[in-house]
Amino acid sequence: MIVEGDEKMDDIILVQPVRIIQQDSSDYGEWEREILAYRQEFLEKGDSINGSRGLHHYEAIEGWLEQIRDCAFDNNSYIGVPVTTFLALRKESGRAEGIPHIVGNIEIRHRLNPALEELGGHIGYSVRPSERRKGYAVRMLRETLAFARGLGLERVMLDCDADNT
Ligand SMILES: CC(C)(COP(=O)(O)OP(=O)(O)OC[C@H]1O[C@@H](n2cnc3c(N)ncnc32)[C@H](O)[C@@H]1OP(=O)(O)O)[C@@H](O)C(=O)NCCC(=O)NCCS
Repeated sequence: MIVEGDEKMDDIILVQPVRIIQQDSSDYGEWEREILAYRQEFLEKGDSINGSRGLHHYEAIEGWLEQIRDCAFDNNSYIGVPVTTFLALRKESGRAEGIPHIVGNIEIRHRLNPALEELGGHIGYSVRPSERRKGYAVRMLRETLAFARGLGLERVMLDCDADNT
């Protein structure tokens, strides 16, 4: 994920977990540990994991991945509109092997319905507590806006609770 003028940009990349995590692959267990550690950091802080397709509900990633897959389709029973869910990954410097570190998650709902117009909008996102205030959310959003343009969206709606710092 590289944007001109942002020298830190090239250290993170947005990926779709359902495309890179296969249940029969040798690194499935490592992905599961990393994702559950990511989830745990939010739970310990008492934060919800906005824009994660409900990761906080899952103690194993199988069901979570299944929900992400189901939500890719229109009229799905969870949210009713197609959703694409991304993880933001950072390749650790000096770590040649192993899966990258997860810094955040972001999801885009491809269109609004009356419920999303009222609450949620097109895009929800979170950065893990230990990685906040480093500009990751700005960069994740920028990349997701490019994805939104690819979907044909000229405007997107984001919302925020009035008491969310
Ligand atoms: C909101 C959230 C995604 C921001 O992530 P982040 O990576 O820390 O954000 P960034 O470092 O990219 O900062 C984005 C901007 O917000 C400001 N900001 C971020 N956290 C802030 C805080 N706690 N207090 C004041 N300003 C803050 C930054 O200064 C920056 O402003 P700037 O662009 O004018 O410099 C993160 O705090 C989070 O995950 N919160 C819980 C989930 C949530 O609230 N999601 C949003 C609703 S869907």
